[in-house]
Amino acid sequence: MKNRPRVIVNVAMSADGKIALTGNKEVKISGDEDFKRVHELRNRVDAIIVGIGTVLADDPKLTVKEKYVDDPNKPLRVVLDSQGRIPENSNIFKDDNYLIATAQETDRKDFVRCGDGDKVDINTLLRLLHEKGVREVLVEGGGEVIYSFFRSQAVDVFYVFVGSLIIGGRDAPTPADGEGARLLDDIIQLKLISQEPMDDGVLLKYEVNYHD
Ligand SMILES: NC(=O)c1ccc[n+]([C@@H]2O[C@H](COP(=O)([O-])OP(=O)(O)OC[C@H]3O[C@@H](n4cnc5c(N)ncnc54)[C@H](OP(=O)(O)O)[C@@H]3O)[C@@H](O)[C@H]2O)c1
Repeated sequence: MKNRPRVIVNVAMSADGKIALTGNKEVKISGDEDFKRVHELRNRVDAIIVGIGTVLADDPKLTVKEKYVDDPNKPLRVVLDSQGRIPENSNIFKDDNYLIATAQETDRKDFVRCGDGDKVDINTLLRLLHEKGVREVLVEGGGEVIYSFFRSQAVDVFYVFVGSLIIGGRDAPTPADGEGARLLDDIIQLKLISQEPMDDGVLLKYEVNYHD
């Protein structure tokens, strides 16, 4: 499907595959070298996408910091929020360069309905962003949303930073949660492109091989 933007997913996980503490509390997994890389990535893309779970847990700004990038751009900030429950005081609303993708009819001009299901339809959202001129997006989490992008066959590049720490906990979020594969055919195969030591961990870069 090429009438959609190129999709890059980026996430940082512990050595035991967790992206936050049990209860979804945010935790620093990488360091300054990786932060710089992520801000450079943000600066390059047209839009940054997160789920409402991440907004409620972390209240991220999703901006590009001058500390890491000279003359930062302002990519569109997109939140997947089926029921439009994002709090009005969220950092996402700091300026008007944002879009809330919902799965419900809404009168708000800054909210856009994507699909007829319970959740935001990923391919509808990507088509809509493409129509707006968005050619490259960065999906930054969390685990539910990342898995939906994989299941929608909508990931081109997957970066995972593996930090040197153990978080543990059967309920701590991972880079790809959701329902997961119940059949072997549902497994998504990756192709390892590079591995690079970074901070006290390692950055892995993958491309995705979907079945036809
Ligand atoms: N380490 C990292 O790199 C990193 C990065 C980002 C986040 N995190 C962590 O991840 C945790 C949050 O992850 P999460 O998985 O709970 O939340 P999430 O993926 O950010 O958001 C999930 C929510 O998005 C909404 N949504 C709408 N359309 C969807 C779709 N098509 N597919 C999936 N979800 C859809 C759903 O809520 P509605 O049904 O209400 O719309 C869903 O519950 C936090 O603890 C945060 O700290 C870590």
